[in-house]
Amino acid sequence: MTGKPVILIVDDDPVQLNTVVSILQKNYNCVPVSSGKTALQFLENRLADLILLDYNMPDMTGIDVLTAIQETEHTALIPVIFLTGVDDAEGEVSALRMGASDYIVKPIRPAVLLTRVKAQLELSKSRMNMEYLIAERTEELWHANERLKKREDSTLQLLARITDMRDEDTGGHILRTTGYTEIIVKALREDPNHPEGYELSEEEGQSIVKCAKLHDLGKIAIPDKILLKPAKLTDEEFAVIKMHPVYGERFFSDFIKSDSEDPFLETAREITYSHHEKWNGTGYPLGLSGKNIPLSGRIVAIADVYDALVSERPYKKPFSHEKAAEIIVSDSGRHFDPYLVDIFVAHQEEFIEVSKIKDNIPKYEFAHSMSY
Ligand SMILES: [Fe+2]
Repeated sequence: MTGKPVILIVDDDPVQLNTVVSILQKNYNCVPVSSGKTALQFLENRLADLILLDYNMPDMTGIDVLTAIQETEHTALIPVIFLTGVDDAEGEVSALRMGASDYIVKPIRPAVLLTRVKAQLELSKSRMNMEYLIAERTEELWHANERLKKREDSTLQLLARITDMRDEDTGGHILRTTGYTEIIVKALREDPNHPEGYELSEEEGQSIVKCAKLHDLGKIAIPDKILLKPAKLTDEEFAVIKMHPVYGERFFSDFIKSDSEDPFLETAREITYSHHEKWNGTGYPLGLSGKNIPLSGRIVAIADVYDALVSERPYKKPFSHEKAAEIIVSDSGRHFDPYLVDIFVAHQEEFIEVSKIKDNIPKYEFAHSMSY
């Protein structure tokens, strides 16, 4: 390779071919061919930096060759200059519309050809540099976005863990609730016959799964003496507990005011305020019913209750899966969305698998390990 740009010259007229080659050969590697077919054969194995293409040829016309070049991925960006003996404004326009880079009318004047070829090669070079830069920047942005997503996940995990540490003694509630939510979301998205109103884009589904772990974030605002009370709660105390969806909602509403562009925060807000609503309207805090309860909240309601049923608590032994399933099915259409209960029933084996997940990070361990 000499480093000179390669110019493929396609013309059925040998005199024209020789003329063009004699003008360009000092500065460029010229590859003269006499038909469109031969030009395309050349381009199968080698590339050119620029193509000079005769407009009128007997077998394949210049337009046919240009179309084939543009339809082939590795040649689509090669600049093409048309050469023709016809001073035809209409042909010029149609060639340029087809994607030709330029159009030179014969007889060829050496200075014009040299100038146009040089200009197109420079243009092509700067376009390639630009595309390389764009690709490089796109990759950098992708990596930055991935880092941001990881940081977002860690922050969510941290927030969820803070809530969980205050409330649960059993561990793993966050992981399992996320797991059950994921089963329902996946089944919903994969059911082509789901009823109207259950459409979830991939992004919406991912947001629900990510935010499920934050459903009880509002419990941060509940006093310890009530949240951690080992005995039965009074009606007044239970009324305070029932405020946690409201506190969670306020927390995310404040965020949304400062970052209203993020749909993810809206999903988190929906789940925190609606996961204790019931299908028949007897839930809290708003007493919403049916599809007025956000789909995200209806999904997390099943995930949250199922985990509470099959988990051990200071005040109760874990229920068997069968007993928990019986309770959820009997509450279909009362507490829970009937369609989502159908999904639960169809995916019980997966729920059983997720219920085995235990959090292996010992809680409060740091309190014992600090020896200084
Ligand atoms: Fe809750």
